Amino acid sequence: MHLAVGITGASGYCLGHEITQALASRGHDVTLIVSDAAPQIALLEGCDVAATRALATTALGEHDLATAVSSSTAAPDAMIIAPCSLKTLSSIAHGYGDNLITRTAETCLRMRRPLVLMPRETPLSLMAVENMRTLILAGAVMLPPVMAYYTHPRTIGDVTAFFVGKALDALGIAHDLPSWRGV
Ligand SMILES: Cc1cc2nc3c(=O)[nH]c(=O)nc-3n(C[C@H](O)[C@H](O)[C@H](O)COP(=O)(O)O)c2cc1C
Repeated sequence: MHLAVGITGASGYCLGHEITQALASRGHDVTLIVSDAAPQIALLEGCDVAATRALATTALGEHDLATAVSSSTAAPDAMIIAPCSLKTLSSIAHGYGDNLITRTAETCLRMRRPLVLMPRETPLSLMAVENMRTLILAGAVMLPPVMAYYTHPRTIGDVTAFFVGKALDALGIAHDLPSWRGV
């Protein structure tokens, strides 16, 4: 599949990195789009944006608006934005496609391609909840990185792997990452 991964300036840069890694390692064609705000968070969280870019088939920035990925003729099969800032969430909910991440997300909704959003903020404002509601009604999958205890995570890596598994579940991609497999 051709998958777009957007990484924005919410906490949890490693989510975007690990999802890119998981998709690329399974042979998917990944178009990575990193927002202007994301590298600052990556730096604060000890992550390396260059390493993420190296995993992708194509690595773009939010200003690369002339690239084909956001057009209806070359839209990705699905898009995931992880982490998704509330600003980007709001832009998509209101059709404010001023950068390549928000335009590609809107194109996925227009073309009925899966759009998976991993918003990270707590507590939530009414505006954030209303924007999430709007996006769910528009067809997006709202997948906030909310951890579970039943996998007995011991490290941040364990918690992140659980979230990556959830993201792959939403895209219909099989995996053996930590998840609830029944009793
Ligand atoms: C250290 C730091 C942590 C942040 N964490 C979050 C967060 O968890 N969630 C969020 O919605 N915004 C967070 N922000 C704010 C976003 O970075 C800001 O709204 C930015 O404009 C988002 O732009 P983007 O969506 O284009 O990447 C954080 C900002 C900083 C400096």
